Amino acid sequence: MSHTIVLLPGDGIGPEVAAAARAVLEAVAPHHGLSLTFESHDIGGCAIDAHGDPFPEATAKACATADAVFLGAVGGPKWDGGGPRPEAGLLALRKTLGAFANLRPITLFPGLEHLSPLKEERVAGTDMLIVRELTGGIYFGDKVEGDDHASDLCSYSRDEVERIARIAFAAARERKGRVTSVDKANVLATSRLWRKTVVALRDADYPDVELDHVLVDAMAMKLIEQPSAFDVILTENMFGDILSDEASVIAGSIGLAPSASLSQTHGGLYEPIHGSAPDIAGQGKANPIGAMLSAAMLLRHALDAGGAAAHIERAVADCLAGGVGTADIGGTEHTDAVIAAVCDRIGEAG
Ligand code: NAI
Ligand code: MG
Repeated sequence: MSHTIVLLPGDGIGPEVAAAARAVLEAVAPHHGLSLTFESHDIGGCAIDAHGDPFPEATAKACATADAVFLGAVGGPKWDGGGPRPEAGLLALRKTLGAFANLRPITLFPGLEHLSPLKEERVAGTDMLIVRELTGGIYFGDKVEGDDHASDLCSYSRDEVERIARIAFAAARERKGRVTSVDKANVLATSRLWRKTVVALRDADYPDVELDHVLVDAMAMKLIEQPSAFDVILTENMFGDILSDEASVIAGSIGLAPSASLSQTHGGLYEPIHGSAPDIAGQGKANPIGAMLSAAMLLRHALDAGGAAAHIERAVADCLAGGVGTADIGGTEHTDAVIAAVCDRIGEAG
């Protein structure tokens, strides 16, 4: 069976890293009996230039029927002057796909501990996955906006909590078997519902997964005090927004970090966490590793091809351990040389 993957290269370094994602997918596919078909479409600034719309109809249609969507990045100074915004394309895309679960792995690769702003001995062995609820909570609750008073309502239903918690428990089973649920149950009613729901679900359906609870303020400290202590971190929308940004700097370069946004109705959206990096676009300086690891997440979550995903992840780790890398991680290679090295490694380890 063939799978259709929609590539949305976007702007800036987006096309350079989308090429990296495609290259590793094509390299790994034959080793795992996968047949992949690629389609590229416009999104963001390039789509505004070509179609006057950051999320053109043809892009929307292709994404809605694809088995998975890979995004490079959107935006840049060219479109900052007024008129339609490239980011509007990204928001429309997330809505089209119904993406409710944001997954961000934070991995410290052996040999790259020195890139971390934290002490090497403290970060060594860090390998966590942040699972953030993406469609509920205070960002989407009723708002009152006045000159003398304003309010934002934080609301969660049991179903919404269960849905995201299942993602975290399932992920933990494939990892180290531990979930740390982050809330503010000493103060917030939504957090007390969150905690009760997570505990009941674990007891009923995931008794093999270890579960603990940490208050979000304490978590902000623990993340940098002992990042290697965590496996899967499960949290709601706003807490996850803040904690995932905090955690993203632990591993060093932003160019290394992948992400996935999962959906119940579609194959999901896979993208490196970095933006379009206009300062280095077109110069062969873009680190393609975050995009490659996002492609691995695509295989694992959209195509149920965990073996192929691990194959890419091993090749990336081997190349990094061997000193292959772009300037942001202290290397000397061009983007294309890193892509070639990882693809060669995938072939050798087939
Ligand atoms: P950025 O992530 O594009 O760049 C921040 C810094 O990290 C820059 O110095 C850049 O050169 C470096 N960098 C980023 N990715 C890299 C990579 N793969 N390899 C090596 N170095 C890398 O964030 P910034 O500068 O705040 O935003 C630039 C544009 O990207 C803006 O228009 C922004 O709106 C957009 N953006 C888009 C996102 C998306 O498409 N999901 C996310 C964040 C920003
Ligand atoms: Mg944020």
